[in-house]
Amino acid sequence: MTACEVIMKKRNGLPLTRDEIRFIVRGFVEGGIPDYQMAAFLMAVYFRGMTPVETAELTTAMAESGDLVDLSSIPGPKVDKHSTGGVGDKTSLVLGPMVASAGVVVPKMSGRGLGHTGGTLDKLESIPGLRVSLSLEEFLSNVRRIGIAIVGQTARLVPADGKMYALRDVTATVDSIPLIASSIMSKKIAGGADGIVLDVKFGSGAFMKTFESALELARSMVDIGASVGRRTVAVISCMEQPLGRAVGNALEVREALETLKGRGPDDLRELCLEIGSRMLWLAGKADDAESGRRLLEERLRSGQCLDKFREMVEAQGGDASVVDDYSILPKAAVVRPVTAASTGYVRSVDALTIGRAAMGLGAGREVKGAAIDHSVGIVLEKKVGDRVRAGDVLAWCHARDDSSAESGIDAVRSAYAIAPEIRAGYRLIHAVVSAHGVEAYGTGG
Ligand code: URA
Repeated sequence: MTACEVIMKKRNGLPLTRDEIRFIVRGFVEGGIPDYQMAAFLMAVYFRGMTPVETAELTTAMAESGDLVDLSSIPGPKVDKHSTGGVGDKTSLVLGPMVASAGVVVPKMSGRGLGHTGGTLDKLESIPGLRVSLSLEEFLSNVRRIGIAIVGQTARLVPADGKMYALRDVTATVDSIPLIASSIMSKKIAGGADGIVLDVKFGSGAFMKTFESALELARSMVDIGASVGRRTVAVISCMEQPLGRAVGNALEVREALETLKGRGPDDLRELCLEIGSRMLWLAGKADDAESGRRLLEERLRSGQCLDKFREMVEAQGGDASVVDDYSILPKAAVVRPVTAASTGYVRSVDALTIGRAAMGLGAGREVKGAAIDHSVGIVLEKKVGDRVRAGDVLAWCHARDDSSAESGIDAVRSAYAIAPEIRAGYRLIHAVVSAHGVEAYGTGG
């Protein structure tokens, strides 16, 4: 077998065998297959697609290119969660402690933010002292002791993905469903959890721009989970406007804490309860999503979710007094209002524009490895459906200086569309996909 033969077969639209897929992935990771051949292979996959069987084989080959985390020594069900990324998406900070407080082990390895979407690790690092680079031993020890750890993935977890993604990024082959699905699922499978709940977003601020493409991705990932024996559920939600009100690292930690205290924004709470209840169901801690939700609501009321957050921060070396004292979080030097130019109802708050505005303020990074400012960001006062009068505050810009605040204000104002009539039918959660099929979902924030 040669790489050229495998590329030609895919180019001609024929399905590849397990051996052919493994040959390409292994050869690329070990260095025998050069970038130009892998780039040609990726482009062939981009145009010809992959069958569900091929996609599952690609995922397994990628997962097995590095370490496979073994969680078998940790008692109890282990469930992981992954979001395809969005603006203001701090669900992991709320969900992890929430679900762990209900007795489900949450071993979470996350990535850093890139572009207009923030990363969980960057948000967590706003907490003084908190470490996200734990050794595998420390990670396992925390998970065993307190039921949760949220850390950065090690370099030895799915090296095939890092190498392939770097090439996809510069060869216009990122937006291919089999390549995205295998990239995400290989990391979740290598992470070792028994169950996986995926938060698949669509809309201007998300990776997938339409509901249909998000549904296709969700189905593909649920199929992969089924073929490798990991129970997988995907919740499809709208990312047309940011999730919650805060966008920016320390601001999002604060909002996550408010949500754990029962005072957070409705849409964030709703999404966390929906995803969390599915995590409990997958773990066998609830008979259905409804009873899972009731259990989580009870844990939120009793303060156990907040206690779990505190334990997690302490276990990762962070200052847990942050739970009661937000003043220890980094604070922006300048906080300025963004006011409405007209009267009416908020029709849209474009998530991509807000994400880019936050990045412009310094909250995100344009290139891998760049430094970020944990203190800056945006807090939305008005969201879709809200009534506004000219001059009302639409949002607050938290900036490092006046000139950066000025640019942020203009950008945030341009994200808002205000119309004379209220917009009907805006929904947060649109569907839930599992091995049983697609469940349409009719409510949301
Ligand atoms: N996120 C991933 O982890 N991989 C992709 O290919 C796209 C989004």
